[in-house]
Amino acid sequence: MFSLKGLVKHSTYSLGHVVKRGTLCQQARSRLVLGIETSCDDTGAAVVDETGLILGESLHSQKEVHLQAGGVIPAVAQRLHRENIFRVVQEAIDRSGVSPSELSAVATTVKPGLSLSLGIGLEFSLAFVKQHQKPFIPIHHMEAHALTVRMLEPVEFPFLVLLISGGHGLLALARDIDDFLLLGQSTDEAPGDILDKVARRLHLKNHPECSAMSGGQAIEHLAKQGNRRNFLLTTPMGQVFDCNFSFAGLRTQVSVAIDRKEIEEGVKSGELLSCVNDIAAGTQHTVASHIAKRTHRAILFCKARGLLPQHSPSLVVSGGVASNTYIRETLKIVTDATGLHLICPPSKFCTDNGVMVAWNGIEKLKAGRGILSYKEEVRYEPKAPLGIDITTQVKDAAIRMPPLKLRVKN
Ligand code: KG4
Ligand code: ZN
Repeated sequence: MFSLKGLVKHSTYSLGHVVKRGTLCQQARSRLVLGIETSCDDTGAAVVDETGLILGESLHSQKEVHLQAGGVIPAVAQRLHRENIFRVVQEAIDRSGVSPSELSAVATTVKPGLSLSLGIGLEFSLAFVKQHQKPFIPIHHMEAHALTVRMLEPVEFPFLVLLISGGHGLLALARDIDDFLLLGQSTDEAPGDILDKVARRLHLKNHPECSAMSGGQAIEHLAKQGNRRNFLLTTPMGQVFDCNFSFAGLRTQVSVAIDRKEIEEGVKSGELLSCVNDIAAGTQHTVASHIAKRTHRAILFCKARGLLPQHSPSLVVSGGVASNTYIRETLKIVTDATGLHLICPPSKFCTDNGVMVAWNGIEKLKAGRGILSYKEEVRYEPKAPLGIDITTQVKDAAIRMPPLKLRVKN
């Protein structure tokens, strides 16, 4: 059980906070939501108002620990969430300059994610709402990712969403705050996952320029100095006419090629190949092409079914992998060819954080949907699909795309 004593009162405001509070009180009573995120390896909290103003936020990332371990270990993630959640929430509230009593609701990610991680956020949140007698808004992690863009700019429904991160790879049509059509998803690994695994296989931690980078960042960095044509790979699922992703086969392709190069160059375990830049460029290009082709088909499917607005349809891209410039530029070729507006929110809002959860809470509060009393029992759900699954319909449509040259400079 968590002790919530420290969150009841806040007697040590800085001047900045007092001024902010004063301003808040003068404003037309904007409702405030505290958002809490613990679905994977980030402990995040934020207080956001109805206009999308972030009053206070705090984020504790476990990435460094998991990077050393070679992947997220659920029991370690749980321990770190438990150690940090109180401080992170306290910090977000302190920075916002509001007291818990001024909150309209608490929104927390309850699905999908790692059970042990979700459990910590939910247990903390239920104790918090009970203590402060606040409504509770359970949040779907992917819906929160998909809608964060609306906090930053006015994007009207329906719009197409591409979520690409270490945990997710999916294409969906957002029709309303709680109405999504799932067009495609990864059948095995997420795109960030394969970039991380290839980076590990290449021992990029031992590369002087990449030691502090995530796998995806290291691949992007090295690819700039490489030639993808020296490391040609087959784009996955070329003969499957749906919008699903698959990265496991590509990983095997890369792995087999690395094995061969290692024998050729006679490198020992942990040493770097001379051609890491070319391998990074080839891998990045193939991941980008795969993502772009599935997205192209999703756009054509939505257009054929009249699912996108005639005027200014948008593709919103989010997730850690969305910060990759090469992938963004490849997607831009697709959106330019199909007349869509490509929206890539700043990286800070693409990755896991408390802000996106708080904003999703605001969206639900405004719509008056999905709001529970603090007395209700809530469970977390490690597996939870996003919206209505129409991936079979997409597959049955078997849309062939017109040729499109996906040429981007590294
Ligand atoms: O969204 P995120 O922070 O966490 C979740 O997975 O939920 O995404 C992390 C993933 C990692 O796999 C990381 O390698 C990848 O995003 N990533 C990138 C880049 N920066 C981070 N992938 C490609 N290019 C990047 N610049
Ligand atoms: Zn996420």
